[in-house]
Amino acid sequence: MAMTIDGKAISQRIKDELKEQAAALKKQGIKITLAVIQVGNDPASTVYVRNKKKGCEYIGIESLSYELPEETTQQELLSLIGELNRKEDVSGILVQLPLPAHIDEDKVIRAIDPKKDVDGFHPQSVGALCIGQPGFVSCTPAGIIQLLKRSSIEIAGKECVVLGRSNIVGKPMAVLMLRENATVTIAHSRTRDLKEVTKRADILIAAVGKPKMITADYVKEGAVVIDVGINRDENGKLCGDVDFESVEPLCSAITPVPGGVGPMTIAMLLNNCLESVRMD
Ligand code: GUN
Repeated sequence: MAMTIDGKAISQRIKDELKEQAAALKKQGIKITLAVIQVGNDPASTVYVRNKKKGCEYIGIESLSYELPEETTQQELLSLIGELNRKEDVSGILVQLPLPAHIDEDKVIRAIDPKKDVDGFHPQSVGALCIGQPGFVSCTPAGIIQLLKRSSIEIAGKECVVLGRSNIVGKPMAVLMLRENATVTIAHSRTRDLKEVTKRADILIAAVGKPKMITADYVKEGAVVIDVGINRDENGKLCGDVDFESVEPLCSAITPVPGGVGPMTIAMLLNNCLESVRMD
């Protein structure tokens, strides 16, 4: 039987630690404020944004909410970001993705002051991560490192396969595992003999966005399996990239969906919000 890694419980512990740290900062007169921008009303984004604001409230971070209409122009959004960059009392800026098609996401990300880039998406944050310098780290990959460490899973020297190469998860994940001294392979849709590659993994991290794609024949016996996917199965039920029923009997530890990686993303965002006032 595999250990099920309880992301909900681990993220709760982290949030309670952050709550104490935020209270200590408040006593020193340091206030933390996160500006959250959503353009349009994508239902999934609305849920994520609501949960992020709830997380802020729980640990004592003020959140400023900017709910902009779908037809907001790129220039209007860039002007708002410029204004928030200049405001001393705003410590972090988060623009929920995806943005409407008429707005250039890269341009928007680049407009955020790297000192306020709590999502860790700015090229300067990504570059700093790659060369081991201080900067914000993308929340989902940072959360996965915490899940592994807080579950006493060794990373150094292990074979790690990251499946997926997105800028938000796959690439920063691979860099973080490298920083923890794993031997890292990034696999993707063009990888040959994919099952042979994923079967080498002591730690397999699936971030492909394909419901239940990873079945037992992709996994080595005793591997640790981390599922980043948030998908709907054929019955509309929430599921990951990993076929939990088929993989669980064979691995040593596994994250469920929901309740695995998901809750960690918000905990790490809140951690970055605290970092944003410490970095000053
Ligand atoms: N959309 C999906 N995941 C994320 C995230 O971590 N941050 C932001 N800003 N948008 C997202």
